[in-house]
Amino acid sequence: MKHKSICLLGGTGFVGKYIAGRLASSDKHVRILTRNRNNHRDLLVLPNVELIETDVFDSTQLKKHIEGMDAVINLIGILNEKQHNGDGFRKVHVDLPKSILDACLKLHIHRIIHMSALNADANQGPSFYLRTKGEGENALHTFSSDRLAVTSFRPSVIFGPGDSFFNRFAGLLRLTPFAFPLACANARFAPVYVGDVADRFVRALDDKSTFGKHFDLCGPEQYSLKQLVEYTATTLGLNRHIIALPDFISKMQAHTLEWFPGKPFSLDNYNSLKIDSVCQQGAHEPTSIDMTVPSYLGSNNRQTEYDALRKIARRL
Ligand SMILES: NC(=O)c1ccc[n+]([C@@H]2O[C@H](COP(=O)([O-])OP(=O)(O)OC[C@H]3O[C@@H](n4cnc5c(N)ncnc54)[C@H](OP(=O)(O)O)[C@@H]3O)[C@@H](O)[C@H]2O)c1
Repeated sequence: MKHKSICLLGGTGFVGKYIAGRLASSDKHVRILTRNRNNHRDLLVLPNVELIETDVFDSTQLKKHIEGMDAVINLIGILNEKQHNGDGFRKVHVDLPKSILDACLKLHIHRIIHMSALNADANQGPSFYLRTKGEGENALHTFSSDRLAVTSFRPSVIFGPGDSFFNRFAGLLRLTPFAFPLACANARFAPVYVGDVADRFVRALDDKSTFGKHFDLCGPEQYSLKQLVEYTATTLGLNRHIIALPDFISKMQAHTLEWFPGKPFSLDNYNSLKIDSVCQQGAHEPTSIDMTVPSYLGSNNRQTEYDALRKIARRL
């Protein structure tokens, strides 16, 4: 079956905008659910995209808005919770996917594509983030049925215009003259390009060979966090000495920043970084950081994203 109308949860975020763009350019009807329609009106430049303000945690609202769609893509996820006990992560990463599944089963929607994370593991995950991502992914796959095909993707860190990885370090490096102290500097990543991730989601939609499967997504190269921060500084032309903090200081920093507004670094982030975010096997996505990062680091991200959306819209 061709899935023509797609409800996109988390479609206003960094990854979601790319997936919305790809879906719009493949002639799909896309319905994006958001907490604040006004903040994301730039998405309406895409044809066939509707933007609906709602509370996805209200199951009645959720059902109302996914009714009649052919498929649901769920990208909603958080890196930090307001609380410190995992309840916030559980609500977003476990309760919401279960509620989406329940709604799809009741409304006879036969397809869900779900965003998890590399190393998500309900039992062994070292952080609430990874454990709850694992629980949500398991719930979807375990309780789906012959009538409902689930595919989940498990990426390493994702980069591209508007990302919160390279752009965040770029901002911090600019604020820190000479030396930049870095927690968890040896953690390893295989950064994967957002356009490659979006392509995998869109291709999976009608591809039966992906039904019921989980896919790890990694880029072509592996780096330590220190190498990636050095790369960011070099790309920006900043002369910074990156100092790898010893583990106990990294942990102390996490304990402290956990209580700062917006949690710039949390104990849960620290725990997630205990395990390398690299793929053990399988094909790697093609786009390297060298192919795109220099073109957007230091630019006005919001404008770059809007230009990208307009380009997709003009192509149709
Ligand atoms: N970025 C990465 O490097 C990376 C790596 C691995 C996995 N992932 C996963 O990929 C997904 C998308 O990541 P992203 O970087 O695109 O995230 P993002 O930019 O933060 O976007 C997430 C979207 O989810 C919605 N959302 C967030 N918190 C919510 C809440 N409490 N209630 C309702 N809606 C909420 C927001 O939509 P509204 O504000 O419009 O409601 C937001 O647009 C997440 O599940 C993330 O865990 C990301």
